[in-house]
Amino acid sequence: MDTAPLIDPFQRAITYLRVSVTDRCDFRCVYCMAENMTFLPKKELLTLEELDRMCSTFVRMGVEKLRITGGEPLVRRDIMTFFRSMTRHLDSGALKELTLTTNGSQLSRFADDLYAAGVRRVNVSLDTLDEQKFARVTRWGRLPQVLKGIDAAQKAGLRVKINTVALKGFNEDELFALVEWCKSRDMDLTFIEVMPMGDLGEEDRIGQYWSLKDLRRDLASQYTLTDLAHRTGGPARYVQLEETGQQIGFITPLTHNFCESCNRVRLTCTGELFMCLGQEDNADLRSPLRASDDDGPLEDAIRKAIGLKPKGHDFDYSRQTIEGQMTRHMSHTGG
Ligand code: GTP
Ligand code: 5AD
Ligand code: SF4
Repeated sequence: MDTAPLIDPFQRAITYLRVSVTDRCDFRCVYCMAENMTFLPKKELLTLEELDRMCSTFVRMGVEKLRITGGEPLVRRDIMTFFRSMTRHLDSGALKELTLTTNGSQLSRFADDLYAAGVRRVNVSLDTLDEQKFARVTRWGRLPQVLKGIDAAQKAGLRVKINTVALKGFNEDELFALVEWCKSRDMDLTFIEVMPMGDLGEEDRIGQYWSLKDLRRDLASQYTLTDLAHRTGGPARYVQLEETGQQIGFITPLTHNFCESCNRVRLTCTGELFMCLGQEDNADLRSPLRASDDDGPLEDAIRKAIGLKPKGHDFDYSRQTIEGQMTRHMSHTGG
């Protein structure tokens, strides 16, 4: 086996794999999905055994951080079997972190099992603390269920990070409430700029772009912000609020491009490898996986794909039109 690390054409080492284990979700967030989505037929999906083989191959090739996403990863049948099968890579030391990004709806059921499988951190998506607004932005989601999930996660010993998509005219007024709520519960908080993904229709008024430059300025009106050098291996940049000691993350694909330090690729539930969230380039890994019991052809396909990783995305709102718009839904690649 060729054990050279995965390095892309821009000399970036690929050590972070995001794996979307299903395109389904029990919510329909307005910036992520249309209300009537057509999901993939089951036979298209990689089986749990195939997902194991894929991930294990990446781990052998130098991936140290594995984030399970969806859709909603916890709605995939028997997904705990997959988490438990990944524990061996934590035990061997090859994998440094096994984690997931979830909408929180199923956390009360799975928090203990996740902890037992070696997960120590979860990122929970939550854009508002107002029940009505929550129902409006997620269409099918219910806030109390998610709050119960977060309680269960913390009780199980999982560190929780809240991911909030910054939406102008929607959660602008909750900036301080969200910050204080996270402080009171000892949770981290990251804001994300809304990206132009999928065809989400014009009728919905939610989803206006709120620049994190503006959000940061608002935050600075009440707190003293200090930039931190600290990284979690994701795209977020952190500031510390001096008054509370809290760390707040900013994910700014629009106002500040972080592509130069990109360390990640994305595997979809059908075995396509997307080299960049904001580009269409992808490679089929399912065929080489299924073509042979030997992992050689799969490794070759992975190396070839990484050799095609583009420099970055083209999202840009600065000309008052949406540039770099993707027709793919976020649920396809898991954010
Ligand atoms: P940490 O390990 O906590 O740092 O998490 P993370 O930021 O790597 O993962 P998370 O799933 O919380 O990511 C939050 C969101 O950031 C994703 O859902 C995307 O919306 C966005 N994001 C992550 N990586 C990229 C990227 O490479 N490009 C762009 N444009 N957005 C990204
Ligand atoms: N822009 C930014 N973030 C998005 N997410 C989903 N769709 C978008 C979008 N269009 C976020 C979710 C979740 C993560 C997986 O991606 O809120 O936190
Ligand atoms: Fe589901 Fe997450 Fe997309 Fe919302 S953002 S519809 S919770 S996958």
